[in-house]
Amino acid sequence: MPAPSAVRVAARVKGFTYAIRNIVAEARKVEAAGTRVRYLNIGDPIPFGFRTPPHLIEAVARAMRDGHNGYTASVGIEPARTAVAADCTRRGMPVTADRIVLTSGTSEGIELALGALADAGDEVLVPTPTYPLYTAVLAKIGARAVFYRTDPANHWLPDLDDIARRLSPATRALVVIDPNNPTGAVYPESTRRALIDLAERAGVPILADEVYSELAYDGPLPLMASLAPDAAILSFSSLSKAYLAPGWRAGWLAVGRTPRLDDVLAAVKKLADGRLCSPGPMQYAIETALTSDRSHTREFVRELQVRADLTVSRLSGIPGIRCVAPRAAFYAMPQVVLPPGVTDEDYVLGLLRRTGILCVYGSGFGLPADQGFLRVVFLASLDELAAIYDDMAEFTREFLASHAAAGTASSSIRGATHP
Ligand SMILES: Cc1ncc(COP(=O)(O)O)c(C=O)c1O
Repeated sequence: MPAPSAVRVAARVKGFTYAIRNIVAEARKVEAAGTRVRYLNIGDPIPFGFRTPPHLIEAVARAMRDGHNGYTASVGIEPARTAVAADCTRRGMPVTADRIVLTSGTSEGIELALGALADAGDEVLVPTPTYPLYTAVLAKIGARAVFYRTDPANHWLPDLDDIARRLSPATRALVVIDPNNPTGAVYPESTRRALIDLAERAGVPILADEVYSELAYDGPLPLMASLAPDAAILSFSSLSKAYLAPGWRAGWLAVGRTPRLDDVLAAVKKLADGRLCSPGPMQYAIETALTSDRSHTREFVRELQVRADLTVSRLSGIPGIRCVAPRAAFYAMPQVVLPPGVTDEDYVLGLLRRTGILCVYGSGFGLPADQGFLRVVFLASLDELAAIYDDMAEFTREFLASHAAAGTASSSIRGATHP
């Protein structure tokens, strides 16, 4: 009998890269070699000591005790959908509960919407840098991510001319991430209006990723659809960030009220039927979250702003690094001015191996590797961040000096397919 060969994996998996987690495999090797790794790669506040509000935990525990442990309707439970609709309406996006679908985090909302909108060969406009789930899901569908620029020299705002140039008859959606991961940018109203105008004129729906909209330092943002309630806009959010419960996978999508989106809404619901439901007991926290005390969010935002200020002042003070100030959430996207031939991965892997500091290279978010961007998650305590930035300063000085003196040696791990 011939020796059994390994079972073949589908080709599409090659296109499904998710740098934020891929790089963890490298970190494990560094740990195995005895260096303590400081994980600044994933936007999860919980490992850094932030706590899920007790009243939300109680809502989930009560749901479990009350026997709500079965499947729910695939669109989710009515009280939560009604609460999401009321919250969207309060924030300027007038929708009824039948246009809300509860999802396993924002992530599943994005996947359902892209699945409902794009066929193989279609195009979806995605910002660079981008949150990598968009490109990963599009790769799975076989649709094409067409990147549009956001500009670090202009507060990381979208380049509207670039978007206009890239819209084509094959474009099925325009992804807008505002506030933005990985840059921390918040778009002014004029930019949001211009994006809506562009999309409406092209007849393309906007996928508005608004998971950070309550974490803007200047106060919660109105939803994008508030500027044009009859535009074709789908909005996505969850309890993951502003409500400090990322592991619950409790999210939702809201489909704008225009009848032009009725078929898309029906398609999303049809796809949602196939996965039965999002986690049931966690759905019971959504109404509580959206209708009761939100002081934890204000407190969290205050903590974030102090960390953002420290991050920008310390990183900008390192020779060879510049950093645009974030205006929301817990991400910054500094740029290391690299010598020719050196990549962002070289810098990030060098930093990891030498200091145990784990960031994600900008090319993992779709930026050119020679531009030297990396994403820093600044959720650690102020003392820990200060120590991290000291170590980054020392490493950067040595790294840039040694490359200036000795040329380059790339150590790419791009293409790794760890989950
Ligand atoms: C821009 C953006 N969208 C979506 C998500 C996924 O969030 P969720 O936990 O709600 O699936 C994240 C998570 O970091 C994100 O940064």
